[in-house]
Amino acid sequence: MGRRGREILDTPVEPILKALRAAYADEWLAHYYYLHAAQVATGINAPQVAGMLTTRAGEELTHATRLGERILELGGTLPADWADVPKLSNSKRIEFPRKTSDMIGLLKAVLKAERSAINAYQELSRMTRHRDTVTHELAEDLLADEVRDEEHTENLIGD
Ligand SMILES: [Fe+2]
Ligand SMILES: [Fe+2]
Repeated sequence: MGRRGREILDTPVEPILKALRAAYADEWLAHYYYLHAAQVATGINAPQVAGMLTTRAGEELTHATRLGERILELGGTLPADWADVPKLSNSKRIEFPRKTSDMIGLLKAVLKAERSAINAYQELSRMTRHRDTVTHELAEDLLADEVRDEEHTENLIGD
């Protein structure tokens, strides 16, 4: 599948697939941890933060889906076993505070994940520029989303 699409790559595909699979795993982890945090959050500010996190969890799943499509187009495979997902990821897990009412601590953990995603897409964008246009455009798209997520999270934290 997609033979001509792969022939036009002006770079070895393996490093790109490795970066795409790591990002795919990171997006799945963000989806899971954000949704979990939204559901267990308690306290006076919990509803607002939970609403934001639920929406964002959905967006991160969309990111995972788009990355998965690109991995398959490039002839790569998606992890069939969930246990492999954290192993593939850059971040392994998102560390939230033990106290479920600590919204600032929670948002700081989210901010760390968003900044890690910015770094990953910046690197993917750099390594594919003029070499793999389709992945490059995907990396730029996702980078813009993560920059927006960072800004939004910083504003909620308020410093
Ligand atoms: Fe994302
Ligand atoms: Fe994000």
